[in-house]
Amino acid sequence: MFNYSEACARNQQPIYAALADKLAGIESVLELGSGSGQHALHFSAQLPHLIWQCSDTTAYLEALKRNLSQSDTSSFAEPLLLDVNQQWPAQRFDMIYTANSLHIMSWDSVLNLFAQLKGHLSKDGLFCCYGPFKYQGEFTSASNAQFELWLKGRDPLSGVRDFEALQQLGDKNGLRLIDDIKMPANNQLLIWQSV
Ligand SMILES: C[S@@+](CC[C@H](N)C(=O)[O-])C[C@H]1O[C@@H](n2cnc3c(N)ncnc32)[C@H](O)[C@@H]1O
Repeated sequence: MFNYSEACARNQQPIYAALADKLAGIESVLELGSGSGQHALHFSAQLPHLIWQCSDTTAYLEALKRNLSQSDTSSFAEPLLLDVNQQWPAQRFDMIYTANSLHIMSWDSVLNLFAQLKGHLSKDGLFCCYGPFKYQGEFTSASNAQFELWLKGRDPLSGVRDFEALQQLGDKNGLRLIDDIKMPANNQLLIWQSV
C-alpha cells in the first residue's frame, strides 16, 4: 500500500465504531484528504451499501487511486482531485468526512472548506472531522503540544485548530455541532449537522 499510515491502522476501528450507526443509515460519503484510503477501505468493507467518494490533492491522488484499485471492494467511485480551495464536485453527499487534515492545511483552507460544506451536503447531512484539537487555547495532552511544534517546524501555516474557532465557523456556515466524542490517543471526533 502506498502512503501506508500506522496511525490509520490504529484509529480506523475506533472511528468506525463511533460512526457506524450514522453510516448505516446513509448512502453517500465524500471524504476530503483521503491519504492512503485506509479509512475508506476499512469502513466500506463493513458497509457495502455505502458509496464512498475518496478525494485528495495532486500530491496524494495517484497513490490513492492505486491503493483503491488493488482492493476487492467495488463500491468506490474513482477518487476525485479535490483541493478544498478549488472546484468542488457538483453533487451533494449525506456525509462529508475528513481525518487528520485540518491541522495540515492552512487556516485559510479551513475557512474555504467550511464555506463549501452546506452546499455539498444533503438535507440534514453530517460533517465528521477526526483529529487533535485545542480547547480554550489548551492542548489536550503534552504529546499534542509537541506535535504542534513539529507541525509548525514543517509548515508555519499548519497547526492544531481551536475547537471554539471551528464551532464558530460551523455556526457561521449553517452547521450545528451535534457531537464532540473523545477518541483514543488524545483525538476527538467532531460531528456537525446541516441546518
Ligand atoms: C496527515 S494526512 C491525513 C490522511 C488521512 N486522512 C489519514 O487520516 O491518514 C493530511 C491530508 O490532508 C490533505 N490536505 C491538505 N491540504 C488540503 C487541501 N487544501 N485540500 C484537500 N486536502 C488537503 C492532504 O493531501 C492529506 O491527504
